[in-house]
Amino acid sequence: MKIGSHLFILYDILMLNNEELKKEVEKIKWFHKIDLGNDLVTPGRKKTFQEIKRIGIPENLEGKTVLDIGAWDGYYSFEAEKRGAKRVLATDYNIWAGKGWGSKAGFELARRVLNSKVEDKLITVFDISPETVGTFDIVLFLGVLYHLQNPLLALEKISSVTKELAIIETVCDMLDYNRPAIAFYPNNELMGDPSNWCSPNFLAMESMLKTVGFKTIKIFSKNPGGYRIDGKPGVNDPDAPNNLRILHNRAVFHAFK
Ligand SMILES: C[S@@+](CC[C@H](N)C(=O)[O-])C[C@H]1O[C@@H](n2cnc3c(N)ncnc32)[C@H](O)[C@@H]1O
Repeated sequence: MKIGSHLFILYDILMLNNEELKKEVEKIKWFHKIDLGNDLVTPGRKKTFQEIKRIGIPENLEGKTVLDIGAWDGYYSFEAEKRGAKRVLATDYNIWAGKGWGSKAGFELARRVLNSKVEDKLITVFDISPETVGTFDIVLFLGVLYHLQNPLLALEKISSVTKELAIIETVCDMLDYNRPAIAFYPNNELMGDPSNWCSPNFLAMESMLKTVGFKTIKIFSKNPGGYRIDGKPGVNDPDAPNNLRILHNRAVFHAFK
């Protein structure tokens, strides 16, 4: 970006008073809650301030490079920058390309208001490689895996650009199955959302991450309890009928090179 356009954006932001900024925020369909300062928090439905605790992003990212794949409104990218990362690249595909109920507008506005240097690139995870984006100390892949038809290929791409640690948050299904297994959702079986395609169980996640080149895998967190296939809290009883039993949960994996 040229110096002139930086000055223009700064001028643009400085010219927006709080009321005008509130109106800009209201025009956008937000997914993330992001603190924009001056008591203004974006009205995203995702409780990002609570959620971040279960992700385990290192508190100190001084001097690190971070890639956030599937960044949407960019809360985790801005957080990585706040924690000292020297370079953050936010990428996304479906939502930024207009294939969903959201858009890239939230990311753009938050970046301007936060005066952030987070970079951005419209790219599918399947095109991620050292040639297209470079390599990064830390890669975030949060809430994206279960939206994909080819999870192993995505993890292979992630491994190719990770130098230290990849953090993967995902739905895990087939929890009562004691071999590596992946549930496949050809329609809208998982929580009624047709954009959900597959969920591996913990054993499948661990073995896929090892297959693509990570040496040590840790389950950083699991949600307490678990969910029925429709997304409601499930019954922890193996004899309960399939539609009432816990079948899936959400978990965070830390995969080290
Ligand atoms: C549930 S949202 C998660 C957003 C954010 N990472 C978070 O955890 O709050 C899923 C995101 O993945 C993105 N996505 C879906 N398919 C993708 C793909 N093939 N490559 C990159 N991003 C993708 C969507 O556009 C969306 O922003």
